[in-house]
Formats: sequence, C-alpha cells, structure tokens
Amino acid sequence: MSNVDYAPRTAAWRALGERAGALSDVTIEALFEADPERFGAFSVDGPGLLLDFSRQRLDRRAVSLLLELAAQTGVAERIGQMFGGEPINNTEDRAALHVALRRPADRPLAVAGTDVMPLVETEREKMRSLAEALESGALRGYTGEPITDVVNIGIGGSDLGAVMAVKALGEYRNPVPGIHFVSNIDGVELSQVLERVAPATTLFVICSKSFTTLETLTNAREVRAWLLAHGGDAAIASQCVAVSTNHEAMDEFGIAAERRFAIWDWVGGRFSLWSAVGLALALAIGWRNFEALLAGGHAMDEHFRHSPFERNVPVMLALIGIWNRNFLGAGSHAVLPYDDHLSRLPAFLQQLEMESNGKSVRRNGKPVECRTCPVVWGESGSNAQHSFYQLLHQGIDPISIDFLLPAASGVDRQAQQDLAAANCLAQTLALAVGDPQAATDSPHRGYPGSRPSSLLLFERLDPATLGQLIALYEHKTFVQGVIWDVNSFDQWGVELGKRLASGLTKAVSGGNGRDDPQPIAGALDRLRAARPR
Ligand code: F6P
Repeated sequence: MSNVDYAPRTAAWRALGERAGALSDVTIEALFEADPERFGAFSVDGPGLLLDFSRQRLDRRAVSLLLELAAQTGVAERIGQMFGGEPINNTEDRAALHVALRRPADRPLAVAGTDVMPLVETEREKMRSLAEALESGALRGYTGEPITDVVNIGIGGSDLGAVMAVKALGEYRNPVPGIHFVSNIDGVELSQVLERVAPATTLFVICSKSFTTLETLTNAREVRAWLLAHGGDAAIASQCVAVSTNHEAMDEFGIAAERRFAIWDWVGGRFSLWSAVGLALALAIGWRNFEALLAGGHAMDEHFRHSPFERNVPVMLALIGIWNRNFLGAGSHAVLPYDDHLSRLPAFLQQLEMESNGKSVRRNGKPVECRTCPVVWGESGSNAQHSFYQLLHQGIDPISIDFLLPAASGVDRQAQQDLAAANCLAQTLALAVGDPQAATDSPHRGYPGSRPSSLLLFERLDPATLGQLIALYEHKTFVQGVIWDVNSFDQWGVELGKRLASGLTKAVSGGNGRDDPQPIAGALDRLRAARPR
C-alpha cells in the first residue's frame, strides 16, 4: 500500500474527521427526526441476519464517506487477494484461506496454483467418519467400551472457537459424548476434568496447530501419563487424536498416523474452527449440524465476496467500527448477546479481533498513524445489565456496542426470550435517546443519550446462523485490518512473554536469585518463599 491510499492520508479520512466534527452536537434523536427513512437506509440484510445501525451516530454523508474510504484503501482488491489465495499474511509469507474450510468441495480454490479443496475434503471425511463412529457407538476405547466423553486439549484458537460454539449450539448436541475443554497451564481444569471422566471411555483431542504450545503440551503429557497408567499404550493408541500441522511432533508424542488430522499454514489459529480444530464441536453436535455451520459460513463468504459494499454486512460492520474508533474516539467495543447460548462469544471475539488487529506497525513495517483495534469485551444480556451497564449509560469514555438478538427462543421458552428482546431493545433505545431531562431533578439521574449501538438481529441461533455470525466477524476483522494497514494474520506480540516464561520456570521453583531480572526480582523472592516445597 502506498502512502496515497493509506487510510489516514486519504481525502475520505480527512472528510470523515470533518463530518464527525459537524455531527458532534447532533443527537441520535435529531438524526431520526431529520431522516424518516433512517431505518431503511441504515440497515443491511445479509444471509440469515439483519444489521441495524440506525442508532449509530452518523448520517448519510458519513456513510458515503466511509464507503469512499473503503474504495480509497483498496478493500475490494484485498478481498480478491484473500479469496485468490495470495500470501496476504506478508510477515509470514502465507495465504489466509480459512474461507476454503467452509467451501463446497467441488469448488476449487488455489494457494500458489494448487487447489486446496481436495486436502480440505480429505480431512472433512475423516472428521465425518469419526463423528459417525462416535454417534453409532462404534468408537471404542482400550477396554472395548464405547466412548462417552471427549476432552479437547488446546488453547487460544485451538480452544476458544470450539468452547464458544459448543455452548452456542447446546440445544443441537447429541446425548453422547460429554464435552470438556482443558486449556489453562495451571492444571486446574485438567484436574477437574480428569475427576469427571473415565479412563476407558474418554477420547482426547490434542489440538495445536504448532504442537509446540507450552500449555497444550503440558496438559497433553499429563493426560498421556494418566492414560498410560490406566490402559498402557493401547489407551494412547485408541484414545488420543491430534490436530496439527507438525507431524514430527505428533510422531514424537506417539499419535498413530490414522489418528491425525491435518491443518495447514494458510489457516490462522483464530480462524480455524471450521477445520479439524472444530473436531470436538463436530463430535458434540454431529456431522450434519457441523456441515450446516460450514454452509452458514460459506453463505456469508459469498455475500462478502459479491455484495456491493453498501449492502455488504461485514464491510458495513467494519466501517461502523472504524467510524466509532477513529472518528468518535471509542477505545473499547462491547459485544452484548441477548441469548445465554452466546455467553462465550465475547471471549472468542477478543482473540479474533485483538490478536488480529491489536497492532501498531503497518504491513510495511512503518508505525501506524491512527488508532487500531479497540479493546473488545462483553457479556450476555441481561446479566450484563446488572453488572456494567451503569458505565455504558453514564460513564465518560465513548464505547461502541453490538447487541445480538435472536427472535426465537432456543429452549422453547418464548415468553422469556420476548423479555430478553424487550430488554435488549430498551437498552439500545435508552442509550440512543437517553433522558437528559431527568438531570433537572438530580444530576445523578440524567441520561445523556446519543450513545451509539448496532443491532444484529436473526431468527434463531442454529448451526447455520452461528456459522454466518462467526464468518461475519472474521470478515469484519479483515476489512478493518485492511483499512488500518496492519497484517491481521500474524501475532508476533505474543512471543516475548512465551520466551521469558520458559526462561523463568527454573527461577520460580528454586533459583538462587542471582540471575533474577531486576524488575521482578522482589516478586520472585516473595514467591519462592511462599510456595510449598
Ligand atoms: O499464543 C498465541 C497463539 O499462537 C494463538 O495465535 C494460537 O491460537 C494459540 O497460541 C495456540 O496455538 P497452537 O494451536 O499452535 O497451539
């Protein structure tokens, strides 16, 4: 990207700054009064969902400038490059082709001239046959008893997506297996899970793209010792499967060749739920439902690839985020789903957005010249209302918000879902309109209003809709990365902490203190004194 089309130096960026200034005293209520067609003009239908951004603090001119910004920063070209398998992850010289993972097998997609769809289909078939064997009771452990439980051992992108989706699709789960997740390094989850599952009937999925991640390997080694103690090598052979790009490390661990699932370096961890990284999910909900999730993701890909930007939900969601972040100063972004099934969505989006776009260096290595990814956070409504909404309504800092709302109850409690809907809409209304008058009685009671939010509305949370939602946020993240000119597909910022931790392991458990790095020497001393020996 040259400096001419670098977002902060474009004419559109300058004009957007001016537009934000011109609108700074205009209330959201006034925007509605000035434009009776506002809902129609400020909402977009995508596959399976509606994006209503009419309560954002912008007008038609601002929207058209945002669209100009997308044009001036080459978003269309970059979308073409992504779907074309070009190495858009430039710091690692890799493609970012997660869209292949949810694409129908008979539609070729090439990386460096080679169609990857046959590879994808081979792994899908392996996943399908494992899921079907489990469902039919044919998948058995070392004693010959059918598998009843599945434990996914992975972290970050090898955990968060599956955790989120297993919770989201709780009503689509098969009665067997029980699904468990172990990610953290401290051994707490591991202990709790091993207490709950039986050695003879539990399948362990070791999920690590690199197969070098300390947390995953530590937990996996503990599991291997536990299985060996109960069932010997036969238990490892029949009850451990692995998902990775690293075949040598899987050899070393003793994963049987027929128990391996491949992924590829053109899939980023946080974009990998659709691959065998989603195996635990596929085993939980069955293959047909997993395929419906893939189809939902693919439908969003088609919409993203082919819709004009003004009718393109991921592009519009990204542009609204840019408006709030770069022109209205929102440093954080709250995701508030009004369906408890989506309670882990904020955690998933934290990795997706913050690991992708939490960067201060441009693709060409120069410092960025604008704000990039906001802090992403959230909680399901209405729990969140009784926790932090005080700050949303009366706090100081601007915060951008996505509300998510299904119309139908996922648990056949429509009257309660209607209450959830009423609460969700009440909040978006209260934020937009406020009640400044109330301040005349007491300054503590006033609601300033004009606090913007978007609403993603969908009929019901089923596998296809979840696929659409995840792909929507993936593409939103990508488009924002293009506009900020950061590489959304690397994560160099996580390496230093890992390196330092491996150097400190000995110091924690018994160093003599001589080589302790000064900024943590005092803390290390205290820790050594306090830890049990
Ligand atoms: O430390 C961050 C990270 O590299 C993430 O990007 C990734 O999703 C996670 O660790 C797990 O990595 P792996 O799948 O290689 O174990």
